[in-house]
Amino acid sequence: MAFTKKFGIAAAALLGCVAFTTLSLRAQEGGSTETPKPERQSWSFAGPFGAFDQAQLQRGFQIYKEVCSNCHELHIPMRTLAEPGGPGFTEAQVKTLAATYTIHDGPNLQGEMFDRPGRPADYFPSPFPNPEAAAASLGAAPPDMSLLAKSIKYERGFPWFIFDALPIPGGMYQEVGPDMIYAILNGYTHPDDPNWNLYFPGHKIAMPKPLNDGQVQYTDGAPMTLHQYSKDVAAFLYWAAEPTMEQRKRVGIRVMIFLLVFAGLLYFTKKKIWADVAH
Ligand code: HEC
Repeated sequence: MAFTKKFGIAAAALLGCVAFTTLSLRAQEGGSTETPKPERQSWSFAGPFGAFDQAQLQRGFQIYKEVCSNCHELHIPMRTLAEPGGPGFTEAQVKTLAATYTIHDGPNLQGEMFDRPGRPADYFPSPFPNPEAAAASLGAAPPDMSLLAKSIKYERGFPWFIFDALPIPGGMYQEVGPDMIYAILNGYTHPDDPNWNLYFPGHKIAMPKPLNDGQVQYTDGAPMTLHQYSKDVAAFLYWAAEPTMEQRKRVGIRVMIFLLVFAGLLYFTKKKIWADVAH
């Protein structure tokens, strides 16, 4: 009897939860006609075992360099490109690349500023002297890209933010940033208005459509499509925002394994300690 009662309460609670979730999902759908939520893309770096695809990061860097860097700053040292867990450029490649940039340096012993070729320890130079100059020429200041993939967000809302945190299929969702970058690059759905974007809050974006099919020449055989370009550059920007992601995930797995083993040991210790106590 007691059992059926308990079962009844549990079932009612479960039903309540399901109803509540369905209702809030409905409410969310209703509210999403304005700015739709970006679709989730598949990323090689998603999930606890995720890792970057080196070739993809290299292509993403190419997109940044040939297209985005005309307007956006990327405030990271160039040598990061040769560090483990990244695009895997060699130090020699980065040295050659750095030398193609002109760095405004100084003052020298005569108190003068001077220009010199870049070195791997230099940061990528900014296309504008300051954000005001960028805003004056583009209508709005393009955000620095070094943290863009972490800072750009949209409201996931209830109940998603709960599921997103759980270790369930589709959970542990941390790729909101790259999904949003991909969505914006593919969100120019009014061909007559290059500043209308489906996913940008308010739909009016100061950035005119930056990428189109066939615009950038890939040399590794990857498709030269807007879809591929935007995935590659979003992946690259995710890496740029967290160049030590692979290391973090490896440590996370080790900690989980340790905790499991430790929990097992505690269980057997507890059994042993209480073995002789009558209960
Ligand atoms: C012609 C200059 C220009 C180019 C080229 C450009 N951007 Fe932008 N971008 C801007 C400006 C300006 C803004 C600010 C838009 C605003 O606030 O309305 C912006 C904003 C963005 C945003 C939205 C940021 C936010 O806070 O919501 C993303 C994402 C973005 N750019 C990605 C890129 C990527 C990726 C590339 C390269 C493929 C690129 N941009 C190339 C000028 C540019």
